[in-house]
Amino acid sequence: MKEIYEPNFVEKLFDKMSSSYSSMNYITSFGFSERWRRQSVEEVGIDKGATVVDLMTGMGECWKHILKKSDSNSKLVGLDFSSEMIKRAEKYKTKFNNSTIEILKENVFENSIKNETADFVISGFGLKTFNNEQLNKLANEIERILKPNGKFSLIDVSVPNNNFLKPFYMFYLKSIIPILGRVFLGRAETYRMLGVYTEEFGNSRNAHQIFKRTNFEVEYVEYFYGCASGIKGRKIK
Ligand SMILES: C[S@@+](CC[C@H](N)C(=O)[O-])C[C@H]1O[C@@H](n2cnc3c(N)ncnc32)[C@H](O)[C@@H]1O
Repeated sequence: MKEIYEPNFVEKLFDKMSSSYSSMNYITSFGFSERWRRQSVEEVGIDKGATVVDLMTGMGECWKHILKKSDSNSKLVGLDFSSEMIKRAEKYKTKFNNSTIEILKENVFENSIKNETADFVISGFGLKTFNNEQLNKLANEIERILKPNGKFSLIDVSVPNNNFLKPFYMFYLKSIIPILGRVFLGRAETYRMLGVYTEEFGNSRNAHQIFKRTNFEVEYVEYFYGCASGIKGRKIK
C-alpha cells in the first residue's frame, strides 16, 4: 500500500494538523467548507430522535448541522482515530449540553459500533485519505452499522472538471495552501499533503462506483461546480 494511505501515516498527519485544522480548512476553502458540510448533512434529512454516526469526525466540525433538529432521544456517535482531534472533540462536546454525544477513538476499519444501530451515517472530508480497497471496506462498515432504510451522506473536496476552474484550483491547492500553511503554522509540508490527497482522489465518482452494491441505493452529488463532491444513499434492507 502507498505510504500516504497507511493508517499510521494519516493519523500522525492529522495529529500534527489538529491545532490549525479548523481555521485552515475554513480559510483555504474560502469559507465554503462550512456550507458544504451543512449541504451534505441536509441531503439526508435527519429527523428528531435519530441515531447518527459521524465517521472521521475530526473535532466535531459536522456536529452543529447534525444536531440542528435533535431532541432528548437523539444520539450522535463521533469516531476518529487521531488523539489530538479527539481531544479537541471532547472539549467541543461540552457546548452541546442537551445532546447525547459519544466519542470513539477508533480506526473506522476496526470499530466497535454494533450492527444496524444507526439511522444515519455522515462523513465530512474523510474520503480522500482512503484508497479503493479502503473505500470498499468503508462501504462494508456503513452497510453493517446502518439500520435497514438508514441513509448516508459523505463529502470531500474535489478537483473540478471545469476547464476554467481546474488550473486555478490546482495552483491554489498545490502552491498557495502550503505557503499559507508555512506562514501561519510553520507547516508547509503537512498542508502540501492535502493537495496530494485531493489530486489522487479526484472526486467522489470512484466512491460512487464502489458504493453501488445490491443493498445500497446511491447517488453522486456535486457541490459548487465540483469543487466538492460526495455520495448519498440508502441501505435497502
Ligand atoms: C479532513 S478531517 C475531517 C474532519 C471533519 N469530519 C470535518 O468535517 O472537517 C479527516 C479526519 O479523518 C480521520 N481519519 C482518517 N482515517 C481514519 C480512519 N481510518 N479511522 C478513523 N479516523 C480516520 C483523521 O484523523 C481526521 O481527523
